[in-house]
Amino acid sequence: MPEIVTPDQTSANIERAVALLNAGQLVGLPTETVYGLAADANNPVAVAKIFAAKGRPADHPLIVHLGADDLLNNYAREIPEAAWTLAEAFWPGPLTLILKKAPGVPDIVTGGQDTVGVRIPGHPIALALLRAFAEANPGGGGLAAPSANQFGRISPTAAAHVVTELGDAVALVLDGGDCQVGIESTIVDLSRGDPVILRPGAITAAQIELVLGQKLIATSAVVESTGDATPRVSGSLASHYAPLTPLTVLELSEMKHPLAAGDCAAIVRDCAELSVGLRQHGHVVILADQPARYAHDFYRVLRELDAKGYRHIYVQNLPDTQGWLAVRDRLSRAAHRESR
Ligand code: TXA
Ligand code: MG
Repeated sequence: MPEIVTPDQTSANIERAVALLNAGQLVGLPTETVYGLAADANNPVAVAKIFAAKGRPADHPLIVHLGADDLLNNYAREIPEAAWTLAEAFWPGPLTLILKKAPGVPDIVTGGQDTVGVRIPGHPIALALLRAFAEANPGGGGLAAPSANQFGRISPTAAAHVVTELGDAVALVLDGGDCQVGIESTIVDLSRGDPVILRPGAITAAQIELVLGQKLIATSAVVESTGDATPRVSGSLASHYAPLTPLTVLELSEMKHPLAAGDCAAIVRDCAELSVGLRQHGHVVILADQPARYAHDFYRVLRELDAKGYRHIYVQNLPDTQGWLAVRDRLSRAAHRESR
């Protein structure tokens, strides 16, 4: 089993992680969103290990993580002004930009596409590792890192989850504590003209529109108009982020009956109507009635309930508002099981 270490930013463990990455090994990387499974983005053999460890199809591109935006030119070309504006406003932070890829970025990183996903994560340990790695790798310095889970499963939000998901495939896990955001970054495609959100996240469309001073095109409209069947974003597959236990979304008023059937668990929001004696009927977890705090706990709770082997997990429906959009997106994917 890999070792889990808690580095302070200048500790020998960062050096160890850099040495392992330089030797083509995989390292578990804490970020503010979820934990990543990192490899040298310029080493195709190392990146291939990511796909093998996750059971991820080869056409699903990876995000390249950087320690500073002056490394962007190593991975992207024809970078539009909007990218620098968003970088300035939101990096380090939970935002991924899709840009035209620079020549020399290995095809395996981008799933053979002519674009590349890049982000500077907002976590001190990730930044310390990325900066040390870049120093040792002039001209490159990026770490390709998907979420550190088996393909299609729940993303890890703690170091121990990475070991549960990947075992010996990861050489070392840097422990950065519980992820602050708890769901994956917002992805904005800037490679084809007007910006388009490909995956909602903690940074909302409204925040992006405010910074760019322009309205965004709704994602679904774009998917329909291009008729694009290739999963450019693996998170766009209906069954992503799913527990093994069947999961159904219900209104609070609908929960009592199915829970009473026994051997089930429920996730509800902390709200006034909650007195209804639900708790006597099964394992009920109460999450905050606020999107950021809900997102912080959602994957962890789902993972814990999934491990308990319940017959069914019921989750209270979430408000249909912009603030809840990203968590609603993850919940609806967790509830989909047909196509797995
Ligand atoms: O918060 C995050 O983004 C986390 C942490 C570790 O940084 N990473 C993450 O990676 O969620 P992953 O691989 O699980 O999801 C990245 C998504 C995938 O759905 C992938 O298809 C999409 O980004 N992506 C990457 N490069 C792309 C590209 N060139 N064009 C379109 N989508 C891309
Ligand atoms: Mg993922």
